[in-house]
Amino acid sequence: MRLGDLPTPALVVDAGVFDHNLATMSTTRPGATLRPHVKAHKCTSLAARQVAMGHHTFTCATPREVVGMINAGVGTEVLLANETLDQSRLRYMSDAQRRSGATVIVAVDSTETIDAAASSGITDVLVDVNVGLPRCGCAPDAATGLAQHARSLGMVVRGVMGYEGHLMAVPDRESQLAKVLESMTTLVDTFDRVVEALDHDPRCTIVSAGGTGTFDLYDTEHPVLSRVNEVQAGSYALMDTHYGALDLPFEQALFVVGTLISSTGDQGSPGSWSVIDVGLKSLGMDHGNPNIDGASVWFCSDEHTTLAFDDRARPTLGSRVLVRPAHVDPTVALHEAMYLVDDVNLGADASVLETWPVDLRGW
Ligand SMILES: Cc1ncc(COP(=O)(O)O)c(C=O)c1O
Repeated sequence: MRLGDLPTPALVVDAGVFDHNLATMSTTRPGATLRPHVKAHKCTSLAARQVAMGHHTFTCATPREVVGMINAGVGTEVLLANETLDQSRLRYMSDAQRRSGATVIVAVDSTETIDAAASSGITDVLVDVNVGLPRCGCAPDAATGLAQHARSLGMVVRGVMGYEGHLMAVPDRESQLAKVLESMTTLVDTFDRVVEALDHDPRCTIVSAGGTGTFDLYDTEHPVLSRVNEVQAGSYALMDTHYGALDLPFEQALFVVGTLISSTGDQGSPGSWSVIDVGLKSLGMDHGNPNIDGASVWFCSDEHTTLAFDDRARPTLGSRVLVRPAHVDPTVALHEAMYLVDDVNLGADASVLETWPVDLRGW
């Protein structure tokens, strides 16, 4: 099958760029120093490629992702880096752990989340600490009390996590580093206090943080930053234009392929435009409009993007057009499958090498 045979809109992944992204990340964060975040791709076939690169521990955002990974036999230890009070979903995860050899770790930031996890058969928890992003995570001073509470219920406290999501896209690397250091100082100090409060339990070892925008800041020589022993990056594998605007060594591997379905006016004349069948129902739009090489995007509506081609000749109706999404995670979540192709630059003639179901959607 060729890219031109795919019904559009279709999600395609450029194999060469994808391999480059995985290899680049694995060089800086080998093995368990990376806990790849599954939320960015929601795909066990893609996660299996991350396993082949030496990563066996994974981060998830939903119980569905956790159980899907375990059922597919991908990864040995899966972290739900998110809070849930839903006992049926917590049981869904603890049952999966019991059925398999894999370990499930659940993030907690309150006595309520700990109690719900304990009574649902979850055994391992990570204390989620707020390091500056106003989202989940307990106040640093509350972490020791929560760790002791979890231990009193017979749970194993595996360590701490703190996601500095507000710092992922700071464009100036020097000020980003200073801010990340401040957040990680909070996280590492909290970890030390938790370890102390748990009488130096040798099972409490994890300090988990970070993402694609900060993956290379945890300098192995730095007294504080080196203590972050795993990074939760996910977007790096596929990338988007939001991260692409930063000075990162990863490139856009993910595209939505559309078909040119309508054109109005003569090419280049004022007021002429074209329309493709890729709209906001096949694109995550929270980071803005997508990019299309050689064209200006005017706007996206449900099933359409209206654009004007720049200098090059306007393609004929029926031509395939490659769209670069602005935000990878919500884009992928709108599709049932991704198609791995040999080289997107070949356009319609690119060969489809593999079809990867986006099998971890839902909650
Ligand atoms: C808890 C958590 N960790 C890590 C990440 C990093 O992901 P990314 O690779 O997109 O920076 C995210 C993204 O939202 C997240 O929610």
